[in-house]
Amino acid sequence: MASRGGFGSSTSRNGHLSLFVFGFVLLVCYRAEAATKKYQFDVQVNNVSRLCHAKPIVTINGRFPGPTIYAREGDRVIINVSNHAQYNMSIHWHGLKQYANGWADGPAYITQCPIQTGSSYAYDFNVTGQRGTLWWHAHILWLRATVYGAIVILPPQQTAYPFPKPDNEQVWVFGEWWHGDVEEIVKQGNAMGLPPNMSDAHTINGKPGPLFPCSEKHTFAMEVEAGKRYLLRIANAALNDELFFAIAGHNMTVVEIDAVYTKPFTTSAILIAPGQTTNVLVHANSAPGRYFMAVRPFQDVPIPIDNKTATAILQYKGVPDTVLPSLPQLPSPNDTAFALSYNNKLRSLNSRNFPANVPLKVDRNLFLTIGLGKSVCPSCINGTRLSASLNNITFVMPQTGLLQAHYSNMKGVFTLDFPDKPPRPFNYTGAPLTANLFTSHGTRLSKITFNSTVELVIQDTNLLSVESHPFHLHGYNFFVVGTGIGNFDPAKDPSKYNLVDPPERNTVGVPTGGWSAIRFRADNPGVWFFHCHLELHTGWGLKTAFVVEDGPGKNQAVRPPPKDLPPC
Ligand code: C2O
Repeated sequence: MASRGGFGSSTSRNGHLSLFVFGFVLLVCYRAEAATKKYQFDVQVNNVSRLCHAKPIVTINGRFPGPTIYAREGDRVIINVSNHAQYNMSIHWHGLKQYANGWADGPAYITQCPIQTGSSYAYDFNVTGQRGTLWWHAHILWLRATVYGAIVILPPQQTAYPFPKPDNEQVWVFGEWWHGDVEEIVKQGNAMGLPPNMSDAHTINGKPGPLFPCSEKHTFAMEVEAGKRYLLRIANAALNDELFFAIAGHNMTVVEIDAVYTKPFTTSAILIAPGQTTNVLVHANSAPGRYFMAVRPFQDVPIPIDNKTATAILQYKGVPDTVLPSLPQLPSPNDTAFALSYNNKLRSLNSRNFPANVPLKVDRNLFLTIGLGKSVCPSCINGTRLSASLNNITFVMPQTGLLQAHYSNMKGVFTLDFPDKPPRPFNYTGAPLTANLFTSHGTRLSKITFNSTVELVIQDTNLLSVESHPFHLHGYNFFVVGTGIGNFDPAKDPSKYNLVDPPERNTVGVPTGGWSAIRFRADNPGVWFFHCHLELHTGWGLKTAFVVEDGPGKNQAVRPPPKDLPPC
């Protein structure tokens, strides 16, 4: 990162001409340099040990979690990714809008083909109109189990946060850890037609904490000074678990979600789904001591998950390591009421500088049902394989990047006939259903008119089981205008929408046996992936993509592809 130090001296009262010129040159360099942030990401395999087991994992630059990307709003960022691992792979910059520049978005076979072993690709994008915490992760196979890190977008110089300036800040990324080789575990699960073995631990900044064996080196601690305020930049990089997070003896004030400022509110715990980010302020105003921070899943249906608690330590300066920390009160793992009330408290800041531009008029209504199901698989353990669908369609991954196919009018890669509503309405959240609802397979997408406003209702169903699903849209933020339990009622529910200050985000947790309504303006041309961020469900086909057409303006068309775009 460029340092600001140095040129202050050039403006001193009796500054010499040479100093002045030097300072001017430095200033120009600084300006120029600050506008472009460059990173080199070497994808490589390294041995890492956790829970007393060592194993080779895929890392970036040998680091786990990977490096944090720092940028300022308005910067250009270039990240050159060189792949030295045995997997062809790609990286997604989760939550960055990538205006007309899907080439830098990263989901494999959606906006690019994977970067092959031995090759490089430079992700080149501008950070426009966004500030806050986001994150990045591998976007192919289950490689994001170890290939992930944070993105910190600072406000422009001279622009303050809309909340009290913290004395310091720290990135907190939550993850999941398996003893074995994750790709092998997934392969075995797929061969049997069953979910792969669940993870063996959760982690905070890559470390499971002292409730696990061999934790001496594998505990993350943050030192605080009494009376100071800290900004925690939290991302949930877990593959399959929504997580509760709490700090013993301290409340948190939520100030931002998914790189959008919120109306601040104080809470004893937060809920964060895979894909989401949350910034909280913590005031170190408790008795100086050591306090556990703990992370544990939320799961309100009887589906087995890794329910283990990861911990880290908040340690007041001067307090010896021998003091035993106390554990926080986390909501119980099936606390639906806490989850609903927490999500209900999230409101956009909606200030003069940060307005919530909620589309009030809707051009296109989409209604998507989430279905889990089984398909025939003679070689599988039960003769069936688990699968998932949206509007009864299990998405089939193409062999070519969809964005290339769209950009160059290639035929036969995808169809534009994804239905706007389920083929047959049914009692979505009634008695459990196992019926085969004529689920079909296909690479079927929806075409969206440029600049039209879209309302998308995502409805959970009781096909096999209800469950909560974090849905992520690439290329956009959206407003979560409504949410409810049971079946969405188009006659009654829209009148209860929040169209004033709904939360704006890129990943929404659709509640168990309920629905979420989101709105966005389709002003970003390209092909944008829309999927459940539980890796298990993405893999089973719980995904689709939107083709947003080019606009009439000069800068409203998808840019030409970069020269180093990986070949298919
Ligand atoms: Cu964070 Cu398509 O994913």
